[in-house]
Amino acid sequence: MSVREEFDAWAAEGREQGMEERHWHTVRPILARMPVEAGDTVLDLGTGSGYALRALRERGIGAAYGLDGSPGMARKADGYTDDGAVGFLVGDFDHLPFADDSIDHAFSMEAFYYANDPHHTLEEIRRVLKPGGTFYCAVNYYEENAASHDWQANIEVEMTRWDRGEYREAFRDAGLHVAEQDNVPDREIEIPDESAFPHEGFESREAMVERYRTWGTLLTVGVAP
Ligand SMILES: C[S@@+](CC[C@H](N)C(=O)[O-])C[C@H]1O[C@@H](n2cnc3c(N)ncnc32)[C@H](O)[C@@H]1O
Repeated sequence: MSVREEFDAWAAEGREQGMEERHWHTVRPILARMPVEAGDTVLDLGTGSGYALRALRERGIGAAYGLDGSPGMARKADGYTDDGAVGFLVGDFDHLPFADDSIDHAFSMEAFYYANDPHHTLEEIRRVLKPGGTFYCAVNYYEENAASHDWQANIEVEMTRWDRGEYREAFRDAGLHVAEQDNVPDREIEIPDESAFPHEGFESREAMVERYRTWGTLLTVGVAP
């Protein structure tokens, strides 16, 4: 199944709202770290409902572009804002429809690992970033987060599961400096007491604590030279 088919179906089911609510727990502190300045041009890769760009606009960024491979998602995102500075485009991570050195900062949450060729996607990001521009890459599906390993079984788009070191190496191979890498815990999701388990796919409370409070979201930050 293609990205378009998979995520158009998610959009038709209204799943962009649930993603936004869940992802916001760790995206909020990540966006707060981004060194955006008034007037900057920002790109969100795999934008979903477009919530990250809406939040960044409140910090005065200029043009904001949300790229998504699903026309259904892009339409949903467009429907959540009437801000003329925010634009949503249908396109694939394989080819970013932007000129060289045209983007100040890029962001992506829970989308990068769906790239058909993640190494090439990083090269594309490097190409479109201005010198000194950053890529804040956030993922919940990664090697150290054992609870994420079975997610591929529920989705037909092929997912790339790298570990922390593989992210750093791939960023460097694409010509990006790695400025930082961090696990951002989800402190907002409610974790019930022992008696509630099994709960939401977790056999034990310990496993759920590990998933959210220990591993959370893996953030890798690249900087274009
Ligand atoms: C799991 S959702 C995450 C959405 C949003 N970033 C969030 O945090 O809720 C992944 C999004 O990335 C998009 N996507 C996945 N692979 C893509 C690709 N190769 N090119 C463009 N968009 C892609 C999907 O259509 C989907 O909207």
